[in-house]
Amino acid sequence: MNVLHVIANPRPAETSKSKKLALEFFTTLTEKNPDVLVNNVDLYQNKPPFVTVEALNYFWGPVADPAYNPAKAEETAANYSNNNAQALVDADVLVLTLPVWLNSMPSILKAWIDQVIVPGKMFNMGPEGVVPTHHLRTVVLLVSSDEIYKEGDVLDGLTPALRAIFGYIGVDDIQIAWADGQDSVRHFDSAERFEMAAEAAREIAEEIAELS
Ligand SMILES: Cc1cc2nc3c(=O)[nH]c(=O)nc-3n(C[C@H](O)[C@H](O)[C@H](O)COP(=O)(O)O)c2cc1C
Repeated sequence: MNVLHVIANPRPAETSKSKKLALEFFTTLTEKNPDVLVNNVDLYQNKPPFVTVEALNYFWGPVADPAYNPAKAEETAANYSNNNAQALVDADVLVLTLPVWLNSMPSILKAWIDQVIVPGKMFNMGPEGVVPTHHLRTVVLLVSSDEIYKEGDVLDGLTPALRAIFGYIGVDDIQIAWADGQDSVRHFDSAERFEMAAEAAREIAEEIAELS
């Protein structure tokens, strides 16, 4: 089983709550299933560029016109996508490690998504719309935040967005371990909240470890 771990957090592991959740998750996963192949991708070590019009032409040109032949500049603009999307195409499980920033995901993660969830890689366009070309089954979110977001909270700009993005390519199984209320000044129980999220991360890892 291939697990792609995408890290969208510039903080070092020692001071990052979401990276601590990731440590819990991957320790359990590799203990329970030593055969799992984990590919760690730290977006801050290899930053995705924003999509340009040349890259858009490269991604969507063949959808509009099967005879589309990219210009050199269009091909160059798609370098990041061409070098990095395959890791997601090959993944059975995607794990995203991230903090909540401004009620949403860090923009570097959205930039990565814009580069890799493109036609010709994760899907093709058929007469009835998106035809997935990947075998991704589950997306796991390992998240940390200072606020406590309620179920269906209008301020939660993270999980509805990620559900919509992965639903677009046919992945509806989103598992979440979320350490919320991590501002210990405002939340006396931040440590307990972290421990609950760590337990959720370990439980999700145990389930993933069982997948064949
Ligand atoms: C730029 C920035 C924006 C933030 N915005 C939010 C926010 O909108 N909601 C929230 O709950 N926490 C917010 N936080 C707090 C972080 O989500 C929180 O401290 C989290 O635990 C950080 O995760 P980390 O320790 O893995 O970096 C923000 C932090 C930063 C640095």
